[in-house]
Amino acid sequence: MEIDFLFIKLLILLFNLKMIHAAITAVAGYLPEKRLTNLDLEKMVDTTDEWIKERTGIEERRILVGNDLGISELAIPAVQELCKKANIEPSEIDLLIFATVTPDMVFPATANIVCDKIGAKKAWGFDLSAACSGFIYALTVGAQFIQTGSYKKVVVVGADKMSSIIDYTDRNTCIIFGDGAGAVLLEPTTDDIGIKDFIHYSDGNGAQFLHMKAGGSKRPATFKTVENREHFVYQEGKNVFKYAVVKMAEVSLELMNKNHLKSEDIHWLVPHQANKRIIDSTVQRTGIHPDKVMVNIHKYGNTTAATIPLCLRDYETLLKKGDNLILTSFGGGFTWGAIWVKWAYDGK
Ligand code: UT7
Repeated sequence: MEIDFLFIKLLILLFNLKMIHAAITAVAGYLPEKRLTNLDLEKMVDTTDEWIKERTGIEERRILVGNDLGISELAIPAVQELCKKANIEPSEIDLLIFATVTPDMVFPATANIVCDKIGAKKAWGFDLSAACSGFIYALTVGAQFIQTGSYKKVVVVGADKMSSIIDYTDRNTCIIFGDGAGAVLLEPTTDDIGIKDFIHYSDGNGAQFLHMKAGGSKRPATFKTVENREHFVYQEGKNVFKYAVVKMAEVSLELMNKNHLKSEDIHWLVPHQANKRIIDSTVQRTGIHPDKVMVNIHKYGNTTAATIPLCLRDYETLLKKGDNLILTSFGGGFTWGAIWVKWAYDGK
């Protein structure tokens, strides 16, 4: 594989051809109004603001309230905002990839629902399920369609309505998660910017530590599964933590070494926002300066597939063309990985 790639690179050099890169040319996000604070949670379960802040770094999260409102409710305004910022019509989108574990329905794909609602008439799309790594997996998939020259406009959404699968009587999980949606636009460029490289992994053995017991084809919904509260996130936090602190740093360093990047070459580390202590440990292990790390967990908690695009949105004005970003995530599956992005524009 490596030899094939080198051969293609050689051909490109010999014939003075330009490689097509997938550049992120716009970023947007949308969060529901309702704030669920640590003080609110103190009234719901046996916890304290102090414990949550100290153990996770979270102060509040956003929750989508109202009947019959799915994750598309947050993703639609995010993608509309994205089109506005990029100055494109939704009808120009070729493909929309929707990373989520909380689709509106098991089927059809929420990608199809979003495309219909925003008027993305020529786009096709699909949902991608990789939990907290959903966005980085989807970004890598989307980039392939640009790099091969197949498409000109690919939208990658990372969005989750975690409140729909969280048990608000379980203090182990309800303090962590929140709802949110983020999206980026990928477009082709022959400049030396965009998605430069990636490494992804998965290990299904991790399913035992983080999963939803019922609602899939293995255990369809019954009165019993509902009574047993099996339609909520089940997490053995300590075990997940143990892997997350090692794997995000390990894969980031592997990607950096592969591309001869030193920690001082990295302008921004964009880690999945699961726990501030996991982020701090990743920063320490990679040697990247703590001032160069995107953090917004205190405002939104863990929004699963939305954390990374929401970080990009929140820090967009600080980003400069040519900045080296390492996006990294670890989550349910287990799934994990890292992407090296050379940022394509000065933040506005
Ligand atoms: O994004 C997807 C991947 N997910 C993650 O990366 C999450 C990884 N895990 C974590 O972030 C952490 O494990 C948690 C935040 C979930 C839990 O923090 P922890 O420091 O690992 O706590 P623990 O589960 O080891 O529990 C320590 C103690 C226990 O009490 P005892 O047994 O020592 O008496 C818990 O019962 O803290 C207790 N505890 C709480 N106390 C107050 C657990 N949750 C709470 C709570 N409030 N909300």
